[in-house]
Amino acid sequence: MCDDHKTEQPTIVEILNIKDEAKDIKTFYFKYNLDAKPGQFFILWLPGINEKPFGVSYQDEDKFGATICKVGPFTDELFKLKKGDKIGIRGPYGTSFELKGKNIALVAGGYGVAPLSFLADEAIKKGIIVHFIYGAKTKKVLVNCDKKSKKCKVHYTTDDGTYGLKGFTTEKLKEILEKEKIDCIYTVGPEVMMKRVVELSDEFKVDCQLSLERYIKCGFGICGQCVVDDIGIRMCKEGPCIDKKLVKKISEFGKYKRDASGKKVEF
Ligand SMILES: Cc1cc2nc3c(=O)[nH]c(=O)nc-3n(C[C@H](O)[C@H](O)[C@H](O)COP(=O)(O)OP(=O)(O)OC[C@H]3O[C@@H](n4cnc5c(N)ncnc54)[C@H](O)[C@@H]3O)c2cc1C
Ligand code: FES
Repeated sequence: MCDDHKTEQPTIVEILNIKDEAKDIKTFYFKYNLDAKPGQFFILWLPGINEKPFGVSYQDEDKFGATICKVGPFTDELFKLKKGDKIGIRGPYGTSFELKGKNIALVAGGYGVAPLSFLADEAIKKGIIVHFIYGAKTKKVLVNCDKKSKKCKVHYTTDDGTYGLKGFTTEKLKEILEKEKIDCIYTVGPEVMMKRVVELSDEFKVDCQLSLERYIKCGFGICGQCVVDDIGIRMCKEGPCIDKKLVKKISEFGKYKRDASGKKVEF
């Protein structure tokens, strides 16, 4: 059996804990050594309902966490589960972020805070200085991502100014880039935001890596659901974490994605 096929079958794992993070956002902790790298994702299976992809927001040797927003039928069902309940998981899948340099900036929007929180933990362990910029629409949907480390400074932004800086994450990023020598920028969030982050990284001549999410079915590269125009790479296999050189070849970046039936959905 080749490596790719080891993770196709779901493993049944127990929910160790559920933490309320913000309105309709919870972190689920599962008793399992997933052995994921920051930026990789896993598939969560609710028997009789469906299976869906999620990033990893926390990991240690015997558990991992996923920070999940309640947005539709699957997450509605997931939010009904309790500590001790069992679910199925498969993975980890996809590419991960590559930590580069000694001084990095993370730019998260919405649930993009989840994979970047895991990346921040790994960077801190390696002694890297982290500028963590995280934005949400309003305070009610903002997750606390403070790290107990002098190496990591978190900058919160909200669109309406109810917490942190009023405005966009990209405005804060620009301010940091003007003052600091940043070695690499990592970004996960709405594509319009990530597009602006890539533009800023060009302007300041800094490396940039991002997570480009597309509709996932199999998660391990066989169904073709997640291919992007017009280079045809699979975002579950050659992504979701890619560098800016590659994203510039993806013509649909920042413009549209495809839904479950393959129909274009414009941003
Ligand atoms: C690589 C990756 C990592 C993700 N990480 C997180 C995370 O850490 N936290 C989190 O809250 N959400 C994450 N998501 C999104 C999550 O998969 C969807 O929110 C979830 O599938 C919604 O399902 P639903 O039935 O509750 O809502 P629906 O009403 O079915 O969908 C709501 C939204 O989720 C998108 N979505 C639904 N199904 C899929 C799918 N199979 N693949 C991709 N997008 C889908 C839809 O396009 C729609 O925009 C991630 C998605 C991908 C692709
Ligand atoms: S989701 Fe099947 S190939 Fe990517």
